[in-house]
Amino acid sequence: MRYTISETDRQWAARVWDKLEVKLKAECRRVGPIMPYIPVNGTYEDMAEKNLVWWTNGFWAGILWQMYHATKEDLYKETAEQIGAKLDQGLADYTGLDHDLGFLWLHTAVADYRLTGNQQSRIRGLHAAGILAGRFQPAGEYIRAWNEGQEGVAIVDCLMNLPLLYWAADQRNDSGLKQIAVKHADMALQYVLRPDGSCNHLVQFDTETGEYLDNPGGQGYESGSSWTRGQSWAVYGMALSYRYTLKQEYLDAAKRSAHYFIANAAVNDYEVPIDFRSPEEPVYVDTTAAVCAACGLLELSEFVGEYEKGLYIKAAVRLLRKIDEKFCDWNPGTDSIVSHGSGRYHRESDREVPIIYGDYFFLEAILRLLDRDFLIW
Ligand code: GLY
Repeated sequence: MRYTISETDRQWAARVWDKLEVKLKAECRRVGPIMPYIPVNGTYEDMAEKNLVWWTNGFWAGILWQMYHATKEDLYKETAEQIGAKLDQGLADYTGLDHDLGFLWLHTAVADYRLTGNQQSRIRGLHAAGILAGRFQPAGEYIRAWNEGQEGVAIVDCLMNLPLLYWAADQRNDSGLKQIAVKHADMALQYVLRPDGSCNHLVQFDTETGEYLDNPGGQGYESGSSWTRGQSWAVYGMALSYRYTLKQEYLDAAKRSAHYFIANAAVNDYEVPIDFRSPEEPVYVDTTAAVCAACGLLELSEFVGEYEKGLYIKAAVRLLRKIDEKFCDWNPGTDSIVSHGSGRYHRESDREVPIIYGDYFFLEAILRLLDRDFLIW
């Protein structure tokens, strides 16, 4: 077992897995090969009909590939394969794509290739990685986040897209792809992560000179605050960059981000708000930050010494137990499991609602605890 947890916690994780299996099998049969985002009255709609390359459109396939890996049931594989094929049009259309190629193609094509050896999916993943690499800005040395109208912006979330480049670099023996990922991670060390372990969401660069300009507010409360999903991207993203490069600075940064996250979560009884630096009232929760951070903490625990692991593993379990205790819908007749996910602080429409990536990271974390996951990143 990669993670040492108490027998009580192991039995709890096994019980959660049993519930996940029942719920996700029912969902898979009902929902099929669509790209769900936020359910409407307990029912998923197909986000692909509005935007084929919306950044969350890979997560349902990611859930299905994790389920296939854990159960070997063909239903999951066949459904995930169909989603992967649908995304081909997004590569062909090209112009709608932004930096979230990792979220989209790691969870579909690359997962497929890793689990089944599908050569067409390998090509899809390499194609997506090439497009991601093409977003690298030599002036400033970062991967551009968004498109026309939002020039010069780099964001913390992109740390989670870098594993697509690490994978493609390894596949093609192309150190240039890896260097692009490293340059972006180095930029994040300098301009995204703060010395106290908190982080910015956005960085604005001058597009011509690459000069750093400022850190505008993003999806959190305000500029200088502490958007918790961004904090979780920092923990997990830096731990992943360490996995693929063994650069000590990334491990140190992941630890600093983790200590900050754990301290803030602990004083909130492991119920994670949308922003750690926002007014006491109203309290807005973001469960997606909690479950993503739990995965990042478990990832990080794999790279530290024996007597350091416990801090990260125990904190991950506390975050996950809180989710199970307060924020799960186990009714197999409704779509989605984890409630109270939040897209951004200042937008009511996706505040404290179930969001597909909350379910993905919850599943990944539970499977990690039981050593039944596979590394999708
Ligand atoms: N990648 C966008 C987000 O975390 O909301």
